[in-house]
Amino acid sequence: MPRFVSAKPDSRLIPLPWGTPLAEWPTEHLVALPRGISRHVVRFIRVGSSVYAAKEIIEHLALHEYRLLHDLMRMGTPSVEPIGVITKRVAADGTELDPILITRHLQFSLPYRSLFAAGVKQDTVSRLVDAMVVLLARLHVIGFLWGDVSLSNTLFRRDAGAFAAYLVDAETGELHDVLTAGQRENDLVVARTNLFGDFCDLQAGGMLEESLDPLHLVDMVETRYRELWAELTGVEEFSGSELGRIESRVRRLNALGFDVAELDIQTSDDASHIRIQPKVVDAGHHSRRLLRLTGLDTEENQARRLLNDLDTFRVRTGQQHLDEAIVAHEWLTDVFAPVIQIVPNELKAKREPAQLFHEVLDYRWYQSQRENRDVPLTEATHGYVNDVLRKLPDEAMSADALAPVEGRHLVDPYDPSQGFIEAGDEEPPYDPWEAAAEDAEPDTGGGFFDVAALRAQAAAKEASKKDGKVKRSVAARIRADSAPET
Ligand SMILES: Nc1ncnc2c1ncn2[C@@H]1O[C@H](COP(=O)(O)OP(=O)(O)O)[C@@H](O)[C@H]1O
Ligand SMILES: [Mg+2]
Repeated sequence: MPRFVSAKPDSRLIPLPWGTPLAEWPTEHLVALPRGISRHVVRFIRVGSSVYAAKEIIEHLALHEYRLLHDLMRMGTPSVEPIGVITKRVAADGTELDPILITRHLQFSLPYRSLFAAGVKQDTVSRLVDAMVVLLARLHVIGFLWGDVSLSNTLFRRDAGAFAAYLVDAETGELHDVLTAGQRENDLVVARTNLFGDFCDLQAGGMLEESLDPLHLVDMVETRYRELWAELTGVEEFSGSELGRIESRVRRLNALGFDVAELDIQTSDDASHIRIQPKVVDAGHHSRRLLRLTGLDTEENQARRLLNDLDTFRVRTGQQHLDEAIVAHEWLTDVFAPVIQIVPNELKAKREPAQLFHEVLDYRWYQSQRENRDVPLTEATHGYVNDVLRKLPDEAMSADALAPVEGRHLVDPYDPSQGFIEAGDEEPPYDPWEAAAEDAEPDTGGGFFDVAALRAQAAAKEASKKDGKVKRSVAARIRADSAPET
């Protein structure tokens, strides 16, 4: 009899064929989704409308990773959510099988290979590197030594115009009260080695723009990490007449998505010199505020954007004097919810609600600029749905990256690590974000995409679809029951 170790058991998992080695599971329980390179056998399993990741791994590591992921969740660090460990698995012939660690499939997440599949530009790489560096710094701030920093062990989610990185593999991790400089250096050395390998691998596969040099990229990761760490924890000294620098420091940290829990301020005896050092910092200022006010659980940049809209709503409706929780409730029911309701059910799986709202705001902004009038939100939403959303690939489970492109089929769709049956030189999958980045006006600043360009690209894509180049049967099958609950 298998044994379930779980704080949040899902009884639908019980009847699954635990007595079968994971690699031999019947495909009726599996769902084919893209994923990173792994040491262990990893499969995505589906029960009802939930998708879990299952990893066959020796017992003490399974339990170690399960507990660490719990600790990371508790501390609010972006990582996959542990569901349980199945131990005491025995095959029909009496052989003992390794336990399976179950985590919740991170919805809307993209393994880096899917992001790179379309060929990646400098700007996107730079945003990915930033997301990765912020994740590493966040982990180090709470005393987590990763031990195996790599692109394969990181998942990315779109966060407004940027990316948010999540830790997916905690097997080698260790949690300490505080990390020493040596421990952090160790993680950096590992990061350099692994990332260099990851980037070379992408280069060999022709997925990296030619101008991007793997060595330069790992140097960039290291430099940015050091800059961020200095910003987070470094001592700053200045003269007593420059008090504004305290506020600037806090603002810079907030802008990076970190909170200053405590600022250690020391003044020299004659008050001519001030020395500041942020004490404890953790992340997610805006997303926590939005969660508290509206119950919406979003990424940091999305939260900033939504809060902006909420604050504008407050001013526009002359409710500055009211409690912000009350205004937030009104904004949610009168502004946010109607936008989401306009989206037809069959398109809901394409974007998370918060990301969708963010994109509608962009769309409205561009339309208002173009037509020199204040476009009402409802009108903009309809326009966005028809012009943009209908043409975007489905990201509910990032299954689109797997959609078979003519002439290119995985040897085993449930185990992408086995590669493709034959690697033809067909067109790479279309990524509207990449396309938008390519055509975006050079100095829009905020990293917003250009809807007109996006529309043109989408039209081109439609045309090529009519040529029958793109088949999306797998994506469509997964899409059918993956629409997020609203
Ligand atoms: N909960 C999850 N959500 C989404 N993808 C996942 C999840 N768990 C694992 N994966 C995918 O599976 C891959 C391998 O998982 P990982 O834990 O890194 O295995 P290994 O220990 O063998 O390296 C990851 O790169 C990731 O793409
Ligand atoms: Mg891994």
